[in-house]
Amino acid sequence: GTGAVAVAHPNIALIKYWGKRDEHLVLPRTDSLSMTLDIFPTTTRVRLAPEAGRDVVVLGGRPAEGEALRRIVTFLDLVRHSARVPHRAVVESHNTVPTGAGLASSASGFAALAVAAARAYGLSLTATGLSRLARRGSGSASRSVFGGFAVWHAGRPGQDTKAADLGSYAEPVPVADLDPALVVAVVDAGPKAVSSRAAMRRTVDTSPLYEPWAASSRDDLTQMRAALLRGDLQVVGEIAERNALGMHATMLAARPAVRYLAPATLTVLDAVAQLRRDGVGAWATMDAGPNVKVLCRRLEADRVAAAVREAAAGGAVHIAGPGPGARLLPE
Ligand code: DP6
Repeated sequence: GTGAVAVAHPNIALIKYWGKRDEHLVLPRTDSLSMTLDIFPTTTRVRLAPEAGRDVVVLGGRPAEGEALRRIVTFLDLVRHSARVPHRAVVESHNTVPTGAGLASSASGFAALAVAAARAYGLSLTATGLSRLARRGSGSASRSVFGGFAVWHAGRPGQDTKAADLGSYAEPVPVADLDPALVVAVVDAGPKAVSSRAAMRRTVDTSPLYEPWAASSRDDLTQMRAALLRGDLQVVGEIAERNALGMHATMLAARPAVRYLAPATLTVLDAVAQLRRDGVGAWATMDAGPNVKVLCRRLEADRVAAAVREAAAGGAVHIAGPGPGARLLPE
């Protein structure tokens, strides 16, 4: 057919992706590991428009413009090139997460777009191939192609373009029974001051803490994979929290500093620490924004959500479990 619809969910990294070694191919400097959520899906329809002279992109009912439009058109150019089909497209996307709030809307967005565009343009890709394709739109989108826990391989540096592209994709991570939840505290749903793309570039270029964090992140990943396999949520949580705080430390040390953490972020972190003193397993992670995601046991998620809600001063709180990978929907 000449159209397709796909849905994808956001993911939250427990081992962060922060820093590229190749901007064009979106190749990261380190491996990362995430949980795909069962909330905030993005649904995207792609229809080929053989008569049209340009792509039409509608996000949440409004025509896309500027940087958002440019990124999507560049992505479609890549799909057209691979499929050897020149036609322009009409893209309509509906996002249920506030954009620009560090809630990974680019991850669900480009994962859904990759799956829908690949089908619409007649590219038959494996899940691995879809993950590589989604990566080109936004690095974290490579992980949202898969449900549950996924690891995104950085691949080996210093290879030719083709080999480098092939070596960097996400895949599911084996886990024991964890029954995890992520409590999402929306401290501020407004758009972020600095895009994660620009912020990670500045961090790599100027932060003296970047290389040490990247090195420790490699150990964090090894230890977290082992903890996931044996079902040790406590160790998973401890590693996730230190990895995220370390990432923010690299940004704070950048010149000029990039600071996403807000006063309310720290208030929520205090509430998480208090939960732990009260014997509740809860560990925080933050992305390119002030919002806090708290990893805990599903059975304790309501208690964690209540504590976090009180601390988040009026911000919305959502409870997520592990969600599904990106998939086509019937048209
Ligand atoms: C802090 O995937 O949005 O959420 O590849 O430039 O599009 P681009 O960046 P993006 O960065 C996500 C950064 C993060 C950590 C993570 O999701 O691993």
